[in-house]
Amino acid sequence: MTRISINNISETEVRADVLVLPLCEDRLKGYYSDVDAAVGGIICRAAETGDFRGTKGQTMFLSADNIGSQRLLLVGLGKADEITAERIRLAGSEAFVAIKELGLAQIAISARVMDSLFGSAFRMKPAFYFIEGGLLGSYRFEKYISKYKKEDLKKEISSITLVGDNSDMDIPWLRAVVSATCFARDLVNTPSNDMTPPVIARIAKNLADTRLKVTVLEKRAIEKERMGAYLSVTKGSDLPPKFIVAEYKGSKDQPVVLIGKTITFDSGGLDIKPGDGMEKMKYDMAGGAVVLAVIKAISDLKLPVHLVALLPAAENLIGGNASRPGDVVTTITGRTVEIISTDAEGRLTIADAIGYAIKYKKPKLIIDIATLTGACNFAFGNESIAMMGNSAEAMDRLKAASDEAYERVWPMPLFEEYGDYLKSDIADIKNVGGRKASLCSSAYFLKEFAGDTPWVHLDIAGAAWNDTERPYGPKGASGIGVRLLLNFLSNN
Ligand code: BES
Ligand code: MN
Ligand code: ZN
Repeated sequence: MTRISINNISETEVRADVLVLPLCEDRLKGYYSDVDAAVGGIICRAAETGDFRGTKGQTMFLSADNIGSQRLLLVGLGKADEITAERIRLAGSEAFVAIKELGLAQIAISARVMDSLFGSAFRMKPAFYFIEGGLLGSYRFEKYISKYKKEDLKKEISSITLVGDNSDMDIPWLRAVVSATCFARDLVNTPSNDMTPPVIARIAKNLADTRLKVTVLEKRAIEKERMGAYLSVTKGSDLPPKFIVAEYKGSKDQPVVLIGKTITFDSGGLDIKPGDGMEKMKYDMAGGAVVLAVIKAISDLKLPVHLVALLPAAENLIGGNASRPGDVVTTITGRTVEIISTDAEGRLTIADAIGYAIKYKKPKLIIDIATLTGACNFAFGNESIAMMGNSAEAMDRLKAASDEAYERVWPMPLFEEYGDYLKSDIADIKNVGGRKASLCSSAYFLKEFAGDTPWVHLDIAGAAWNDTERPYGPKGASGIGVRLLLNFLSNN
């Protein structure tokens, strides 16, 4: 990964391929007068001619003489009093994309203007967000680009020097949030033929070390636990299910249990999905990718939390042994479920995982994160996570963590009446409550399994996959949820 260092020397001295100078739209003059004097006044001239205005996201390269760096990159932050952490992330992203376009390897960033912006209103130094957005925005998924297309690839930025007195910036945290997000994106972008339940199980095992314990329940053990709902989902696949359990005990508290929906491909099963867009269903394991990335980061940083991650991995396919609509299965809790649709498979796997968590881990809180419903995608597009749960307190804290990370959560209701939607004629509950309110009734289904245990459900079906290029993420997996949960757990 890119090297990041902080150096309290002057902007004119620092050696780099490019020196990045962020500027506010309404404060263009006087901020870098020492640099400007050294390079013959070209910054002032760019402002006077109106070529550089400092508007949101504007970037402008200038060749420079007589200073340690070969070029300047002016970056617009917009109006000073409108600047937020998110605005700075976006500016960082614009800057890094422009730098990668030129193939520049060593970059220096001045913290001067950003430091002058605000004090305690933000948790991190402003420049933190600039680098965060820059690194997240320059992520590309290039694993499958062969030599035939290699020339299209952009060179990586090899080192970042932050110029200024930012010695208190939390660089390990910065690295952790960026690499965890990119790790999750890689897992999700990898196609389903290479990201099967056995492959995820192996990846999880490879993350294990002295602090992070990883065990995998094989099919026999899952059968023994009577996780019949989860097992019913894998029956159409030739690949075995893998119930992945990762645990990091950074405190003596009862654990927070994170459950990630890990359907490595969702064809819908016998209730098969329409072909249009089905290729995207490789991202139905995005929840699992997030919780794996989060527990690894928390354990690497040795944060004082007790955390368990559960990934009930399975593939939802068709075949002679596949589950049928109308089948009734028994969950680990003993509750029976009538399968109305084999395409409502995520809740079947998560219901058993919730049951397992309560039976074996005595959680103080369960958070499940899942690409659960198409309705979530319809409701929010790529903009937000839908949040429901039985713990107002936990949801308040998640909302606060979400605001800071700008991975937005939006509350949705769990009206008691949704319970009626899920009444089965022959079993305790059915897995689909009809087309109406499916975003809420799917969560209500999970609520029945959580019982009294504090629990929050995060539906990421909309935000986990970017349909278009975003300010700091390309098309494809967004990694949403990683920074939200890391933030949440670090404040825990
Ligand atoms: N994985 C899908 C939900 C999904 C759809 C995620 C589109 C991302 C984009 C889930 O398993 C599913 O198929 N849900 C069905 C449930 C329905 C049959 C009750 C849905 O929401 O359409
Ligand atoms: Mn489905
Ligand atoms: Zn699914």
